[in-house]
Amino acid sequence: MVRSQLNGIGDGARAILAPLCGVTTAPFRRICLEHGADMVVTEMISSEAMTRGKEEDCKAIRGLDTDQGPLSIQIFGGDPVRMGETAARLSELQPVYLDMNFGCPVKKIVNGNGGSAVLKDVDLLGRICREVVRRSSVPVSAKIRAGWDKPTGERVREYATVIEDAGVSMLSLHARTRSQGFSGVANWDLIAEAKRAVSIPVIGNGDVRSAADVVRMREHTACDAVMIGRAAIGNPWVFDEVKTRLSGEEYTQPTPRERVRTMLRHVREAVRIDGEPGGVIAMRKVLAAYLKRLPSARSLRGRLMTVKMLAELEDVMSAYLAEIGPLAEVPCGGDVSVEEFASEC
Ligand SMILES: Cc1cc2nc3c(=O)[nH]c(=O)nc-3n(C[C@H](O)[C@H](O)[C@H](O)COP(=O)(O)O)c2cc1C
Repeated sequence: MVRSQLNGIGDGARAILAPLCGVTTAPFRRICLEHGADMVVTEMISSEAMTRGKEEDCKAIRGLDTDQGPLSIQIFGGDPVRMGETAARLSELQPVYLDMNFGCPVKKIVNGNGGSAVLKDVDLLGRICREVVRRSSVPVSAKIRAGWDKPTGERVREYATVIEDAGVSMLSLHARTRSQGFSGVANWDLIAEAKRAVSIPVIGNGDVRSAADVVRMREHTACDAVMIGRAAIGNPWVFDEVKTRLSGEEYTQPTPRERVRTMLRHVREAVRIDGEPGGVIAMRKVLAAYLKRLPSARSLRGRLMTVKMLAELEDVMSAYLAEIGPLAEVPCGGDVSVEEFASEC
């Protein structure tokens, strides 16, 4: 593989579904691929759980299908040996990338020295990368934030260089530091810095919500692909929009009926994996995200937050479509706030 190429991803729009714990489950990944995502990334998988005989705690390892389209499997942890061992096992499934999470800011994860905590120790970062590259049978990628506290171009260049020198094949950067959480605006200049520092492909991430943002980020940073997170929650159509607009065509948003059909399919597939009521309850936040783009759906939100069974949800949604009448066939959507999805990771 030529180093600047992306493994398994064509030259088109190059819009990737970001890893989102609690969201990028197998059903959602499949739906996003069908809607034009060029690659999808799993929720992060704990290398501690995988190597301490606690695989059953790792919900994210369910449904790791590599035959639906380009899949990247993400792992996290602060111990090079455990990360290497996990990479060896999961790369046997032949994803297009085995991804390492060096960005998660969540207390529980950083207290265990995983996620963005690794960015505090560049030597450890290099050791984890080298061991994972050594043990993985597929190309390895790394997803980082812009640092632990103060965002500087110098830090980003250092991380990028250490990661490239360790043999990693691709780098994704969420252009905020750990201390910034999800506040303010992602600093895309830092993505441009990373891109200038290394020859491996660099994926830009942070605050992309539309096809126009994809174009802006690519122009601003020269990144090789763009990763979309919060804007895809309850909205796999964002990938259709990117594909269609980047190929110069007019894009039409889906109708409420189409949005509801996809939402119910998503829940049905989740129930097939997780059963009832677990599969429905676990999806409540995601259901709220689907509702955000539907007309006159505010009053539904409260009801969906208590729904437990699929049949109940199907009844509520068909009553809603009947209630809105002809509006059910009128394209709807557009830009909505994604801030509320930022609390978890
Ligand atoms: C609910 C949620 C869960 C997330 N889970 C992960 C994860 O498992 N691994 C990871 O590397 N990043 C995770 N992230 C970070 C996203 O992948 C992404 O970097 C971030 O949301 C910025 O992109 P956006 O502005 O397009 O949302 C998560 C973010 C959110 C909001």
